[in-house]
This record gives sequence, C-alpha cells and structure tokens, in this order.
Amino acid sequence: TRLNVAPVPPDEIFALNGAYGADTHPQKVSLGVGVFRTDDGKPWPLPVVQKAEKELVADDDLFRHEYTTIEGDVPFLRLARDLMFGFEGKDSEEEAKARIASVQTVAGTGANHLGALFLGHHMKPPTVWLSNPSWANHMTIWELADVPRKTYPYYHAATRSFDFDGMMSTLETEAQEGDVVLLHACAHNPTGLDPNKEQWVAIADLCERKNLFPFFDSAYQGFASGSVAEDAWAVRYFFTRKPDMEMCVAQSFSKNFGLYGQRVGAYHYVTNRSSTSLRDVVVNNLCHLIRGEFSMGPRSGCSIVKKVLTNDQLTAEWHQDLQVMSSRIKSMRKALYDELSRLQTPGTWEHIVEQNGMFSYTGLTPKQVYALKDQYHIYLLKSGRASISGLSQKNVAYVAHAIDNVVRN
Ligand code: LMR
Repeated sequence: TRLNVAPVPPDEIFALNGAYGADTHPQKVSLGVGVFRTDDGKPWPLPVVQKAEKELVADDDLFRHEYTTIEGDVPFLRLARDLMFGFEGKDSEEEAKARIASVQTVAGTGANHLGALFLGHHMKPPTVWLSNPSWANHMTIWELADVPRKTYPYYHAATRSFDFDGMMSTLETEAQEGDVVLLHACAHNPTGLDPNKEQWVAIADLCERKNLFPFFDSAYQGFASGSVAEDAWAVRYFFTRKPDMEMCVAQSFSKNFGLYGQRVGAYHYVTNRSSTSLRDVVVNNLCHLIRGEFSMGPRSGCSIVKKVLTNDQLTAEWHQDLQVMSSRIKSMRKALYDELSRLQTPGTWEHIVEQNGMFSYTGLTPKQVYALKDQYHIYLLKSGRASISGLSQKNVAYVAHAIDNVVRN
C-alpha cells in the first residue's frame, strides 16, 4: 500500500453500542450511548416530530429534495439562532442579531468540527482548553483541526462534584491570551455537573479579563431541564454581557428533537460588535470551509425543526415532549438512587439525583464497569458514565442489584 496507516482505537461509545447490539442476553441493558429511550427501552420519535413529518409529506413541496444554499436553510438558521440566543423576533433585536453569523452543520459534531476548523484557520489559538473529563470526541475534533489541546480540571472525584476552584485556578495561571475554552452549555457530558449561575459569571469574567475565547457546545437545550431558556442561560448570559464578547456556539438538535441520525445542527459565530458586513464576511468564510467539505447541511431534519418552530401550537407540543423526556430521566435517577439506598450499597449515591441531563457519572471504577458488562450484560463507559435513559421500571432493580454486587466485590 501507499498508505501510512496504523490502527486507531475504536470509538468507545459506538463500539460499546455495537457490542450491546450483538449481545443476545435477555436482560442486557444499554447505559452507553446518549440516546433517549422509553420505559420499554424503545426509541421515541417525538410525537411533535411525527406530526410535523406528516404535514411535510402533505405539503408535497416540489423543492423538498433540492439543494439549499451553502450556508444552509436560512429560515431554519434564523429559528435556530433565536432559540439559542432567546430572540423573540422583535425588530429592536436587529442590532444584537447583526453580531451572529450562523451556518447549518452536520449536527453537533459537525458544528464543533466546523468551529474548530474555522478558528484554527482564522484565529490560530495557541491552545484549546477542554474540561477533564469531556466528551471524548472533543479531543478528536480539535486534534483533526490541528489545534494544541490542554485540559482544565472539572471533576472532583472525592466529592463527586464540579471542581470549580480547580478549573478557575488552572485557567487563571496557565491559559494564555487568545486561547479557546470549550464549555458545555448545560448537562455536561460526561459528568452531569454544571456550573451554577454565579460560577458562570465568574467564568465569563475570567474569559474577559484574560482575553480567552468561549466556545460553547450546546447539545441538550431543553432536554436537560425541560426548559429551553433555563438550559440556554449560560450562552445567553455570555451573549448579553457588556462589553460585547466574542464567542461561538455549536448547536445540536439531535437530543432535543430526537433527530439523532438526521444530523441537524448549526454553528453560530458571535462577533464583538454589531456589524452586518463583519457578520457577512464570517458567514462567507464559513461557507468556504463548508463548500470544500460537504457543500451544505442536509435538509430533511431541519425541515422538521422549521415546521415545529414556525407554528405556535407545535412549539408548545415540543415543549411538552421535552418535559416528557427530561422528567423520565429525572425519575429514573431517583429510582436508581432509591434502589441503591434500599440495598444499602456501600458508598454515597446522592450524586445520581443531583447530576443533570442525559448522563450520570456514577463513580464506578473501570473494573466495576467491566464486571457489570461481563457478569450482568450492563453496558456503560469505562469512565463510569451511565446514560440514564437506558434505565426503566423493569430493569432498574436489576441494575441496582448488579451495581451493589460489583461494589461489594
Ligand atoms: C454520547 O455522548 O453518547 C452522545 O453524545 C452520542 C455521541 O455522538 O457520542
């Protein structure tokens, strides 16, 4: 071969999902990949999405499979931006909107990747700071963009809590002017631990003082708390702070619309002054990268989101669907916690109910995780991250019993 290739380690999340799929054990449980499941362990196409799909078919739009533009579906992008930044479509907001350059991406991964590539080309940050731990794909994405990577402490293992002091002191002493700081907008993946509002203010102060560039990854807006405003609080706070800060947001619709395989997302670059000409040149440069890579984002998933967000009734139904998903996850956290308490499993387990969003960082060791898979056919990441929506009324006692056993042995 002319190739110079060495094997790369398989992606843990999708490899685990494959292993789960191949497992024939009747009691197997998937707590690996972050996808929503019903209490029967089934996927849940959102009722509002199904409705929107029917309407789209009925519309029978002759252009439905045509190319959009390189930046993507522009009406969709306006809706995505307004959802993220909290605009209500008022004219008075035009000035603020002129700060935001938005393009459609191949979901959240694509938005992270495009953003990394764009900053790598046009900002040349000395370093990108990722939380330790973070979604493993962040590391891959920034590596492919050839930007040097470092991590800031995020998790305090002994107390199973957010290591705010560690994060702040590392960034304070080690981050340099022009560095990028990757922040999870809400429902931190994998820990489920988010800064509180006061801490977000301190993080923004630090970014401003040290001239660091905040890069938000927003993959769970509305999915985590059930409220789109609450889950966008940090992004909106950074955006509305004075003086205007330069920042960007990678926005995913995979979880909050249940459109995982449809690859719906957007990348928003926010400039530090209201200038449509600056915004347009940013869009123009993003389009250059998009054209050379995938020409334009896919359209069918974003048509669904557009259908929902342009109709008040459907938007209200979407908010109800978000409540259904977020409350089921909260109730499964509680159910697992109650079972472990009932079994008097050694250790403390309050963190399971206190963490936020799709995941719990259980604190289980790699050895315990391996034993869960080997002996009980329960699949979670070796970091101890468990996707809570894989739990159900039917399997939670089994899972708690298994955890109890591996913790005691
Ligand atoms: C996860 O972390 O499990 C999800 O975000 C799916 C993915 O793309 O990794």
